[in-house]
Amino acid sequence: MEKTISLPREGVFASILEEGNHLKFLRNSDWVSYDGGRTIAVHSPVDGSLVGLVPALSKETIDEVFQRAREAQKSWAEAGLEERVDCLYRAADLMEKHADDFVEILGWEIAKNRKDAREEATRSAQYLRFTAEEGRRMHGEMMRGDAFAPFARNKVALTFRVPLGVVLAIPPFNYPVNLAVSKIAPGLISGNSVVLKPPTQGSVSGIYLTALFQEAGFPPGVMQVITGRGSEIGDYLTTHPLVNMVTFTGSSTTGWRLSKVTAMVPTLLELGGKDAAIVLDDADMELAAKEIVSGAFAYSGQRCTAMKRVLVSDAAAPVLLEQIVPKVEKLTVGMPQDDCFVTPMISKEAADFVQELTDDALAKGAKLLVGNKREGNLLWPTVIDHVTTDMRLAWEEQFGPVVPIIRVKDAQEAVRLANQSEYGLQSAIFTRNIDAALGIAHQLEVGSVQINGKSARGPDHFPFVGIKASGMGAQGVRYSIESMTRTKAIVFNLHEWGGFSGL
Ligand code: NAP
Ligand code: G3H
Repeated sequence: MEKTISLPREGVFASILEEGNHLKFLRNSDWVSYDGGRTIAVHSPVDGSLVGLVPALSKETIDEVFQRAREAQKSWAEAGLEERVDCLYRAADLMEKHADDFVEILGWEIAKNRKDAREEATRSAQYLRFTAEEGRRMHGEMMRGDAFAPFARNKVALTFRVPLGVVLAIPPFNYPVNLAVSKIAPGLISGNSVVLKPPTQGSVSGIYLTALFQEAGFPPGVMQVITGRGSEIGDYLTTHPLVNMVTFTGSSTTGWRLSKVTAMVPTLLELGGKDAAIVLDDADMELAAKEIVSGAFAYSGQRCTAMKRVLVSDAAAPVLLEQIVPKVEKLTVGMPQDDCFVTPMISKEAADFVQELTDDALAKGAKLLVGNKREGNLLWPTVIDHVTTDMRLAWEEQFGPVVPIIRVKDAQEAVRLANQSEYGLQSAIFTRNIDAALGIAHQLEVGSVQINGKSARGPDHFPFVGIKASGMGAQGVRYSIESMTRTKAIVFNLHEWGGFSGL
């Protein structure tokens, strides 16, 4: 008989589960058996056991969800800011209280190790609190007409930030909690209602997260969840007439499709990456190696910001690699429940793809330094030297625990190769020469450049931007709130004014 994971079923989570790990569906404020009937079985990448059976919602049920979201939004937007702040704080407290539950679920559902899963939960709690506070500080402005001649001072504009309405939030499998919260929190604080469409491999986490938000006291309809396969319901959701904004994190392929179908609906896209670590000859090699290894292999390289290629000169490469290889050899490989650093990949198909890129590079003459061992979807951390531009690994996003070393003539060649990528998320420069770092940073066609540190999204109030195939728009607490609101101006034309001074 199939092994079934024991999911948390106490307290907040008491009403969301039925026998056999069937997850219920949230209708208004009640968790109900999904009477549409169709379910999707979510199996663990760790050992294939059943994590949960989630509802595959029908189009009719999806329509009802959006209708409820539309109806609930108006009074939520009119609620006092303090009420919204309190709800976010309560959600943060619950997130911390249930961190252990999320550690368990994330471990089985997406094979995230205990340390990273705990960080995902605590980072989400912190995100909720920071967003609540940022919401308090955001406000419109007053503008005077006489700043633009020939208008006079009797024309005064008050600008407000107005919620967009119903926000559709679509996170990817690698952060099903945190990349959901980073969409839900800014959406809710600014008076939108939010409908979460979790990744299928991550939808058990998504349903648990929704239960937590419900317990935090958000009014019915303000935060809901729709489960179902993106390939089946994705277009229906993203083109739904009741959706006013789409915030998406995932692959560039899906993002490209979304940018076409969402037409005039505001869309925020955070997509794939091929972040380069450019290591100059004068770099602190130990620091660079430490950052590259943790940056490339954390969560088995399944992060958009993973260090996905290293660009280094022939002169510096031996010193750098002498530092990298032993660090990689020391990484623990195994199961997330044992808190291993490198854990099984999300699926066999994903592991097959990484293997294909590895095999292609080795067949074309690249040199294996460490790794290239595999058991099912568990891949050992792999470093491949002398990767050249005719190899797929030089360009394609591996999204797995393999890092190519590409030898370059000098810094200018490194910049040229970095910019030749279709992606433009982040890059890192390692050097002791801050002038050189700044010069190179300005030339790199990416959203952010890290100097003497690995690529990373956080801290979460920093702007997180992808350009080219890496995205559209900016994430980060304030930036996300801005993307989920629009400016509305109310202009006073004062005819019987007594005059006023001051800016
Ligand atoms: P994905 O396959 O694009 O899926 C992302 C989300 O989109 C999932 O919830 C998925 O649902 C949904 N989806 C699939 N097809 C859809 C459609 N036609 N319309 C609407 N939604 C649809 O990406 P992934 O495999 O989960 O994540 C890996 C990729 O995401 C990598 O490329 C990585 O670099 C990128 N990523 C980027 C960032 C960033 O911030 N830049 C962060 C994390 C990941 P289903 O699961 O049901 O298919
Ligand atoms: O996978 C993409 C995430 O946005 C990366 O976040 O840099 O905190 O791991 P992270």
